[in-house]
Amino acid sequence: MKILGIESSCDETAVSVVEDGVKVLSNIVASQIDEHKLYGGVVPEIASRRHCENIQTVTEEALLQAGVTMEDIDAVAVTYAPGLIGALLVGVSFAKGLAMAHNKPLVPVHHIAGHIATNYISHPELKPPYLCLVVSGGHSHIVEVLDYTTYRVVGRTRDDAVGECFDKCARVLGFPYPGGKHIDNAAKTGNPDAFSFPHPKVTGGEYDFSFSGLKTAVINLVHNNEQKGIALNVNDVAASFQKTVCEILTEKLMGVAKEKGYKKIAVAGGVSANSGVRESIRKACEKMGCELYVPELCYCGDNGAMIACQGYFDYLAGRRADESLNGIATLSLEDL
Ligand code: KG4
Ligand code: ZN
Repeated sequence: MKILGIESSCDETAVSVVEDGVKVLSNIVASQIDEHKLYGGVVPEIASRRHCENIQTVTEEALLQAGVTMEDIDAVAVTYAPGLIGALLVGVSFAKGLAMAHNKPLVPVHHIAGHIATNYISHPELKPPYLCLVVSGGHSHIVEVLDYTTYRVVGRTRDDAVGECFDKCARVLGFPYPGGKHIDNAAKTGNPDAFSFPHPKVTGGEYDFSFSGLKTAVINLVHNNEQKGIALNVNDVAASFQKTVCEILTEKLMGVAKEKGYKKIAVAGGVSANSGVRESIRKACEKMGCELYVPELCYCGDNGAMIACQGYFDYLAGRRADESLNGIATLSLEDL
């Protein structure tokens, strides 16, 4: 079964054709990063306009590269939540038109469920139940993946998402948007023990995250040193910051795994590309005798394959949408 997956919830216009939920026949991503970089972050109005301009071409390219036409496609899957509403609406409207014009079923896909599904592409042997840490520019969740379409969120951020924290700290350190991968690179040659940053205390919700205090600590360190005319070693700040993030994520994730008895752990989302995060969780899993699943780097950031893959499982579970499908800016994984 071939699913065409469409993703437009943020700043990537992405379309992919995936067979049987695991075999990626094409995966085309038109990134708008170069334009948003000029403003230091995603400008929603620009994102929507670029999606409008690109979506037709990206879809044609995805079909071409997969060597198929719409006649060969069994269903159209689209991200309908959560995300920037104007951006989501472009993908949703396009997918509705495409599905109706070709008389194909339409499958609505939750963006975070899509990120989680990337591990089925990279590790087809992975089967629920397992525990997944989803870390991206907009989300930081610890999720119990009960089956392919049912989730229990056991931890979430109270304020900033971890990717947002990476991007804000990167900006103050002089890196362009999105700064996560620049911090990752800088950290490789920095001293992770050069600075001590706070670990958040979250009251209630034992496995919830908070990243705004860490972000403020990094920003304050940089500003204070600027005011005093003291030159900071950027690589040391990056390494110390990344080490703190890794400790926070690993401690919470493994805490849930221990408490709930999970031996299969997955990581997904843009920040799962981070070498420090991967290494820290890998070591912890090794110590606890857990199996770790991480997506290939090309599936960490937003892409269409993750939507086509999850669309396959949602299709099998009977999820369908009609022409009344709308984009939803905020929607919990548990409310599907
Ligand atoms: O999943 P994604 O593409 O979009 C959302 O759904 O939000 O994640 C984007 C985020 C950005 O904050 C970016 O800086 C971060 O993922 N990111 C990284 C790395 N690569 C991307 N953060 C840390 N280290 C990386 N190597
Ligand atoms: Zn995403």
